[in-house]
Formats: sequence, structure tokens, C-alpha cells
Amino acid sequence: MEWRKLVDSVEEGIFYVENFAIKYANPASEKITGFRAEEVQGKRCFEVLRTDLCQSACPLRMGAGLPWKGKAVFSLDRFNEEKFLDIKIDKIGKGWAIIFEDKTREVRLSKEVRGKFQFRDIITASPKMLEILRLIPRVAASDSPVLIEGESGTGKELVASAIHEMSPRSKGPYVKINCASIPEALMESELFGYKKGAFTDARRDKKGVFALAHRGTLLLDEIGELPLMLQAKLLRVLQEGEFMPLGATSPVKVDVRIVAATNKSLSAMVQEGKFREDLFYRLNVIYLRIPPLRERKEDIPLLVEHFVDLFNSIYGKQVEGVSDDVMGLLMEYDYPGNVRELRNIIESAFVLSAGKLITVEDLPTYLRGEEMERRKIEEALRKTKWKREKAAKLLGISRTTLWRKMKKYGIKA
Ligand SMILES: Nc1ncnc2c1ncn2[C@@H]1O[C@H](COP(=O)(O)OP(=O)(O)OP(=O)(O)O)[C@@H](O)[C@H]1O
Ligand SMILES: [Mg+2]
Repeated sequence: MEWRKLVDSVEEGIFYVENFAIKYANPASEKITGFRAEEVQGKRCFEVLRTDLCQSACPLRMGAGLPWKGKAVFSLDRFNEEKFLDIKIDKIGKGWAIIFEDKTREVRLSKEVRGKFQFRDIITASPKMLEILRLIPRVAASDSPVLIEGESGTGKELVASAIHEMSPRSKGPYVKINCASIPEALMESELFGYKKGAFTDARRDKKGVFALAHRGTLLLDEIGELPLMLQAKLLRVLQEGEFMPLGATSPVKVDVRIVAATNKSLSAMVQEGKFREDLFYRLNVIYLRIPPLRERKEDIPLLVEHFVDLFNSIYGKQVEGVSDDVMGLLMEYDYPGNVRELRNIIESAFVLSAGKLITVEDLPTYLRGEEMERRKIEEALRKTKWKREKAAKLLGISRTTLWRKMKKYGIKA
């Protein structure tokens, strides 16, 4: 077919979609989105393009006049890299052609103040984090759901509140709910509320977080813990923009921007059948991964200084900083509890320290030298399934040294 040759040769990405399902993708679309043409067949356009219009103001859903044109629309590619696309949509036969041109370079060049974003509470010098901070204004400007993944204590809540603060919704409410800390039986009424008389104890109407967050932002924290039954209900709210309080006879409409946070990998949970795939796609329109502290050790000195200042003002002390030994230990440590753990370490040292400088004696025992060494040895042994030769290699010491140290610390094979 002649038209086929033509669309295969142009520089613009082209999707042909019917009812949002992609029926055809040209080779140029692969370069722009990072998805191969075969694998997007049948996927829906918003799952692949992930523009900030898809959820909030999709021209196809809104019934905008065609042909429709959008300039420098923000989108995420397969690798969650930001891309700016000029987009055209036109009617073709039973479906639509979505034509998109990559304008990322041009948009970047025209932004003079690249990387100069200031966030009062988020301290960082790490390129990975700065990349996220640079995205926040754009993310905030859109109304699309955001999924924030990161280990415990990495700063997910800080990022979520920055998104709200910088968004047009900042005048509206910012409501948080932790899906892990509420018993399953109460979760539904926490989310959706109930009507007076819905059950024996329901003496008056109770608003759920969706109603409370109307015209604002709702942070669904630890979304991975949401029971499957409620995942289905949440999906409905996201699809229809309305929900049923318990005991209600008609649905309630709400306008809420969703930010979901999790310290688990939701895509892995989808694979294991513990998280609904359709809900995952609904939430994963904008994806932010907050790197653990051990992947951005350059932040440690800055954070130490920040927390020293913070606790000086809280405790009315004049601590000047930490000794070089302490900084050495803090740089070496792996922080399973991430920034929160570092904050706690500094706080407890503050309480203990008598002088102007925090010294090794002020640190929790697990951080002091020998403890640190013992932990590293145990970890190496665990990682190598207690094969001493391999463990010694991993640690960069000889087998006899390992044996001696195991004896010293009372580690039994
Ligand atoms: N980049 C940062 N700059 C300053 N403080 C930070 C930073 N990141 C995290 N913190 C602080 O560390 C603590 C933990 O952050 P936060 O509560 O946002 O983590 P979280 O990822 O939501 O953790 P969890 O998964 O355990 O809920 C908070 O006290 C927060 O202020
Ligand atoms: Mg949190």
C-alpha cells in the first residue's frame, strides 16, 4: 500500500487509534516513545504517550474540534524520560491519527534557567534528584495522576507536597491517607465516607478523604497495601470521577488530583497478581522514582549540615557540625532507612553530644567502626550464602582475615 510507505518514512511519530486502542504505529514512533511498534498494538494511546493531557484534558475525550494541535506537550517515554511533543490529532476513517513530533531539544534549549529550581525543604545536590525536582513544576501544572516510588524515608511525601504546593490546586486542600495504617474494615469509609444510618454506629454523615480533597490533591500513601476489593473501587473513582459513600443512594462527583506513593514496586506487584493492572496504568501516568540515599551519597554532607541547623534551632544548641571521623562513617553507611534514618542519627547524636562537634561517641553503636565492620561481614556472608571464600573476595580481604574477624565478632557459620 502506498500510504504505508509514506507513513513509514516520515520523521513524525504516527499512531492510528480506534477507541483509544492503537492499531498501527510507524517506525518513527518507536524512536520517540521508546516502545516497539509490535508491543504497542492494542495498548491504549494514553498508556504509551503519557502526556499531561491524557488524563485531564484529552482532546479526544473532551470532544475538541478536529484537527487538534498542541505545542510542546509534556510526556514521558518508556524510560520515564521527559519528552516535549508537538501533537496533531485528526479524524481518519473510523478512528484517529495521532501525529507527534519530538521537540524536547528545542524546549530544553529555550529554557534558560535549566536546573535552577528552588524547593525550600528538599535538600539535594544529586543529579538524579535534581532531575526530579526539575520535573516538579511541569508535573504540578498537569492534572494527571502521579506515582512516586521509593524506599522508606527517601522523601516521597516531601515530593508529593511540593507537587501540590506548586500546582494550581495549592489553594485547595491537600489530604493524605496511609493505606497501610488503616484496618481493612474501616478503609472504605475512610476513603469514601458514609451516610447517617448506613450502619448502627453511623449517627451522622462522615466525609471520606475523596470528598475532603475536593478541588485539591489526595496523597494515597503506601498504595501497594490497598486491598484488591478497594483497588476496584478506586479504579472506578478514577475512571468516572465519582464514588458512592456507604449507604448513599446517589454517587458524589469530585474533582481530585491523585498522587500515589509506595515503597514497593507496583509493577512487580502487578506481575504477582497483588495489584490490579488496570489501576496501575491509571496511576502510573507520571512516574517518579526517588533514589535511595546510598545511590546519592553526595547528598549526605548537605543533609548533615541541614539537620544540624534544624536541630540547633529546635534544641537551642550551637553545634557546629560533625567530626571528620563521623562524616567518614556517615559516608560509608548504607542507610536502609534513607534520609529519615540519617535525620534520626543526627537527632540522637544531638541529644547525646556535649560539645560543639558531634564525635564518634555520640553515634548510635551500630554505626561505630567495629559494629559497621561486623555488619558488613554478616552481609557479605549472607549474600554469598555463607561461602567464605566468596565472602572474603567480596570484602576484599583474605580468607584467614575473614576467619579471624568472624571469631572476633562471634559470627558462627
Ligand atoms: N531531600 C531531603 N531534604 C531534606 N529532608 C528530607 C529529604 N528527604 C527526606 N527528608 C526528610 O526525611 C524524612 C522522611 O521523608 P518522607 O516522610 O518524605 O519519606 P517517605 O519516602 O514518605 O518515607 P516512608 O516510605 O517511610 O513514608 C522527613 O523528615 C523528611 O523531611
Ligand atoms: Mg511517607
